[in-house]
Amino acid sequence: MTAAAPPERLVLRRPDDWHVHLRDGALLQAVVGATARVFARAIVMPNLSPPITTVEDARAYRSRILAALPDGCGFTPLLTHYLRDDSDPREIARGFAEGVFTACKLYPAHATTNAAAGVREITSLTPVLETMERIGMPLLLHGEVTDAEVDIFDREAVFIERHLRPLLARHPGLKVVFEHITTAEAVAFVRQGGPRLAATITPHHLRINRNAMFNGGFRPDFYCLPVAKRERHRLALRAAATSGEPCFFLGTDSAPHPRSAKEAACGCAGIFNAPFALESYALTFEEEGALDRLESFASVHGPRFYGLPENTGTIILRREDHLVPSRLHLNDAAGRAVEVVPFHAGELLPWRLAPAPPDGEAS
Ligand code: DOR
Ligand code: ZN
Repeated sequence: MTAAAPPERLVLRRPDDWHVHLRDGALLQAVVGATARVFARAIVMPNLSPPITTVEDARAYRSRILAALPDGCGFTPLLTHYLRDDSDPREIARGFAEGVFTACKLYPAHATTNAAAGVREITSLTPVLETMERIGMPLLLHGEVTDAEVDIFDREAVFIERHLRPLLARHPGLKVVFEHITTAEAVAFVRQGGPRLAATITPHHLRINRNAMFNGGFRPDFYCLPVAKRERHRLALRAAATSGEPCFFLGTDSAPHPRSAKEAACGCAGIFNAPFALESYALTFEEEGALDRLESFASVHGPRFYGLPENTGTIILRREDHLVPSRLHLNDAAGRAVEVVPFHAGELLPWRLAPAPPDGEAS
């Protein structure tokens, strides 16, 4: 018996990105196209400066995203409310009812970029979480403790026991997404959490372990939060993502920073993977012998969890080697260049997104 030849093309239901940073201003204009050319919808993080807290902030931000889109990409940004200790449940419920907020994002204060105004005491959110539970609004978690005495590589696992398990017990009807998980502990915890608990997994945490940050010198392009962990965690994430289990779905956590802000004395956390995110996932799924499960991870489990319809269009990935540039010089609307290093910089990727068919042709 001969093995089936590997496919030359993959036709997938159009995917969504359930966790992305689109930024604002010049950087928004420079990066939004990389997400919108492939994903139909994206959960957009609210950690701007100042953060998105009111319904009016979110409406205005949504308009800026839509205005920054390249022509004809049919992309829907799904906005999120940035939780603070004093968040008003009525404002959140109004935003959800009006279709402006899709979810709320909980950053423990100081956990990451623009999280200084985040939540200091999770129990102060009880009235907010009760409201969200009642109206069916998902809670998105940056699941790391922030105490300086907890080792940075343990902060996710400690968060599970110290905060997540009690929170889920206090709010048994609350839908929760444990975002960008990085540990075997998180994989195991999400697996046993039932249908109201899910997790997103990034392309980079499927490919790098913590050694990548220190390979021959300090490599800021592989620094993100939560930081990549040991190899055994990466392997657990790969098994989870490619397992076909509906509690795991795609969220890139693409988080662009200009090169000058990454390569600095206090460099920013974040990996810009949007330009080749789907290609990166495809490579991982193929290595795991699970290309047939890529579509459910990328395009089915997310909408099912959020109670949204699956997209109707399709996209095509072609088998075609292409070199990822070592730097991208992205132009904003005013023609100013922003230099950003993409994930997979300088690597050859074997899958490439085929251009969208002209308007009017079946997709
Ligand atoms: O690496 C990260 N970058 N992790 C986050 O949680 C935030 C993000 C950003 O906004 O740059
Ligand atoms: Zn993020």
